[in-house]
Amino acid sequence: MRQIERRKADHIEVALKEDISTGYNYWDDVKLVHCSLPEVDLEEVDTSVTLFGRKLSFPLIVTAITGGYPKAKRINENLAAACAELRIGMGVGSQRAGLEHGDDGSYKVLKDYDVPLRIGNVGAPQLIAQRGKAPFGVQDLRSAMEMTDAHLLAVHLNYLQEVVQPEGDTRAKGCVDAIRSAAKELPLIAKETGAGISKDVAQRLKGIGVRGIDVAGAGGTSFSAVEKHRALKAEDMRSAMLGDTYHEWGIPAPVSVVWASVGIPVIASGGVMDGLQVAKGIALGASCAGMARAVLAEALESKQKVMERLGLVQAELKAAMFLTGSKDVEALGKKRPILTGETREWLSQ
Ligand SMILES: Cc1cc2nc3c(=O)[nH]c(=O)nc-3n(C[C@H](O)[C@H](O)[C@H](O)COP(=O)(O)O)c2cc1C
Repeated sequence: MRQIERRKADHIEVALKEDISTGYNYWDDVKLVHCSLPEVDLEEVDTSVTLFGRKLSFPLIVTAITGGYPKAKRINENLAAACAELRIGMGVGSQRAGLEHGDDGSYKVLKDYDVPLRIGNVGAPQLIAQRGKAPFGVQDLRSAMEMTDAHLLAVHLNYLQEVVQPEGDTRAKGCVDAIRSAAKELPLIAKETGAGISKDVAQRLKGIGVRGIDVAGAGGTSFSAVEKHRALKAEDMRSAMLGDTYHEWGIPAPVSVVWASVGIPVIASGGVMDGLQVAKGIALGASCAGMARAVLAEALESKQKVMERLGLVQAELKAAMFLTGSKDVEALGKKRPILTGETREWLSQ
């Protein structure tokens, strides 16, 4: 197995077996206010949204998880089949392996299903030269989109992961220019991978032509923790300790939703585990929510398991809308949640 494939396999294994979440659940700090007189029938509550010009039956994207290693095809196929049937969005994992070594089938499998919003994925570190490796150019990014017939390409910002990884790509100078050039040619969104987006970064991303922001804030999957477990397995204690020190690092997901709301669509993600948390993200200003780890175990099993899990998420979201008297997603977005705990402290400074 190539190093890149081994790394992909490790990520899935660690995410399934180890505790890689931050200790604090920031979504618990966000409370929606109950409405005893909803004046809308549960049946009438409309969870549909139009996002990036694509109609979704409820505001959810299964965000980037994998691609480019043997088990990835099954994972992406189960996810794509379920997302197509449920009419929600889906992203593939980093397409670096596909661009460097050719698609092993795990990315293009997305094309076999009518997923209403398909999102490709490349890393921002790969848009600039790293230790002798040439950067991906616009033509490579176009190929990544063609590989999955993507409507959007997510550029992931993952320097927390890179700094902990012994083999990490830690050059960062020039990313802004590279994203700006690519955004002139292609429909890009920016996504974090678990450490959140600040207001300043959100404004810069908007200024360079990025069309949306997936915040992937702290509170869910921590890539510092993922890399810590990989390092422990490799008996690399220095990297393991570095990963441990930064396990809790990042901007809490709900805080990042508020900060990243700079006038382009925001995807609320980072530790989103149920439909009530999807509703909280919308009430904080997001257009949609994103989930990765919450569906990973099901994705390894079957389309049916993914459907059951995500069907429940939709039912939970609908209940939150009913109980806040929100007849549609727009009305939910106008509710003002109550903020408590650390999330409130972050937002008050
Ligand atoms: C096993 C695993 C692999 C991931 N791989 C990628 C990736 O290749 N590209 C990317 O942009 N994000 C990747 N992510 C990050 C997720 O898309 C998401 O932003 C992050 O995990 C936060 O969401 P969560 O708390 O719901 O997991 C991965 C997440 C997991 C759990």
